[in-house]
Amino acid sequence: MKLLPLIALCATAVSGLVYDTLGHPPPGAKVYSANDVAALRGIGAHYPGHRDRRTVTIRASRSDTDDISDDFLWGIRRANHGGRLLLQKGKKYVIGKRLDLTFLDNIEVQLDGELKFTDDVTYWQANNFYYDFQKSITFWRWGGRDIRIFGKGTLNGNGQRWYNEFAGQEILDSDNTYYRPILFLTENATRVSVEGITQLNSPCWTNFFVNSNDISFDNVFINAYSTNASALPKNTDGFDSLNVNGLSVTNTRVDIGDDCFSPKPNTSNIFVQNLWCNNTHGVSMGSIGQYPGVLDFIENAYIENVTLLNGQNGARLKAWAGEDVGYGRINNITYKNIHIENTDNPIVLDQCYFNIPTDECAAYPSQVNITNIVIENVYGTSSGAEGDVVADLVCSPNAVCEGIHLENVYIKTPEGEEGVIVCDGISGDIGVDCVESTST
Ligand SMILES: *[C@@H]1O[C@H](CO)[C@@H](O)[C@H](O)[C@H]1NC(C)=O
Ligand SMILES: *[C@@H]1O[C@H](CO)[C@@H](O)[C@H](O)[C@H]1NC(C)=O
Ligand SMILES: *[C@@H]1O[C@H](CO)[C@@H](O)[C@H](O)[C@H]1NC(C)=O
Ligand SMILES: *[C@@H]1O[C@H](CO)[C@@H](O)[C@H](O)[C@H]1NC(C)=O
Ligand SMILES: *[C@@H]1O[C@H](CO)[C@@H](O)[C@H](O)[C@H]1NC(C)=O
Ligand SMILES: *[C@@H]1O[C@H](CO)[C@@H](O)[C@H](O)[C@H]1NC(C)=O
Ligand SMILES: *[C@@H]1O[C@H](CO)[C@@H](O)[C@H](O)[C@H]1NC(C)=O
Repeated sequence: MKLLPLIALCATAVSGLVYDTLGHPPPGAKVYSANDVAALRGIGAHYPGHRDRRTVTIRASRSDTDDISDDFLWGIRRANHGGRLLLQKGKKYVIGKRLDLTFLDNIEVQLDGELKFTDDVTYWQANNFYYDFQKSITFWRWGGRDIRIFGKGTLNGNGQRWYNEFAGQEILDSDNTYYRPILFLTENATRVSVEGITQLNSPCWTNFFVNSNDISFDNVFINAYSTNASALPKNTDGFDSLNVNGLSVTNTRVDIGDDCFSPKPNTSNIFVQNLWCNNTHGVSMGSIGQYPGVLDFIENAYIENVTLLNGQNGARLKAWAGEDVGYGRINNITYKNIHIENTDNPIVLDQCYFNIPTDECAAYPSQVNITNIVIENVYGTSSGAEGDVVADLVCSPNAVCEGIHLENVYIKTPEGEEGVIVCDGISGDIGVDCVESTST
């Protein structure tokens, strides 16, 4: 609990900072010593499971346009290397400038208040961090090591204006130029944990982890809703990843209109437990194999105790096929103890993802191998959208699709009939009775 020498705290000062960590704190900012227990208690910086640290506070915003991003950046730099930035309960902190937070090393952010982004679409579309993968942009990026974000507060993407203006467009449409920011993004980060907070109304994906290791989310609530019935939130996925080893999501609730949890290319060692998803597109491995000549994989996932309500899909594996796509594998994935209600496609294996015509998939079958998949103890009901079909496992001809094992799958239709399982192109016995998609 000793203080670091001052020099270590200040070593990261760089040009371009409005408030230099060497100079006076910006107006309203304060730094408390880790030993000043009474003061830390007084500001709400005592937190179960987290030892007291040097704690930094910054001024709060006075309105939704009172941008405190310079103060926030100062606070992050001042708290870096062993300290904590506290965003206090009942206060709002508005971020109106893009932030590069890729220099972090041992920092805590206690988010008990609300951290909210401005909805200046013109500014953000000109100032963001851009990723080629599905043309993603973000407000900020977090990188470095040992980053812990926790608290009972809210990270608010202020998505309504983005929803209104994006209405009627499609993210995967090649003509789309209306890019929308991701709410939380890590890049080149190792050991990031997020605990307790709410993530609200992201303009686009809620979380995206790029080139990162050991990311964990626990007890987080993700929600996106619109007050405009003709402009619903779109593409507000709970969790997406690219080149990530070690991704854990536990005790988390997601209520959004797109994928609940969907690791993307090159994600391995995935652990999901006690996840609740309402109104989502399900827990999907993929899509992968989209980009020509590129190898993608998703490997070693254990997904247990998931509740999926009112969704488009439940448990899903998806890979691209067609003339100009990539290759790879989805291997060693376990879904266990999955409760599904009122869902269009409770179980899906799709090797001809997106809008590629069936004959093109047949002519150019997916080169994504799907192997060693266990789907065990799945119960509940479908929505009836696919008639009696509750599981649809369709592998492209010629693609490798083997070691697919289902056990104790009891999904009924809304009428209470036993659901039908469709299986095409799978090598070997899948463990349950199933019919070909061409059967009546
Ligand atoms: C709701 O969204 C529609 C579709 O974009 C838009 O035309 C309309 O102006 C929005 N309504 C409000 C109150 O913002
Ligand atoms: C992440 O690391 C890669 C490889 O070292 C590097 O090319 C890239 O610039 C880094 N990204 C950031 C945001 O620092
Ligand atoms: C399963 O997850 C739910 C949350 O969706 C939780 O309430 C329940 O306790 C978990 N069950 C077990 C056996 O841990
Ligand atoms: C789940 O979503 C439905 C709308 O589809 C909503 O009516 C319900 O309140 C949600 N459940 C919970 C527990 O939030
Ligand atoms: C996935 O990893 C492979 C092999 O390491 C690499 O060639 C490929 O570019 C990666 N895919 C993506 C989308 O980064
Ligand atoms: C399969 O994945 C699990 C993690 O879910 C891992 O513990 C196990 O070692 C993997 N199996 C193989 C054969 O790699
Ligand atoms: C897919 O399976 C084939 C046949 O076993 C194998 O040759 C190929 O290397 C596998 N592809 C990947 C990306 O693992």
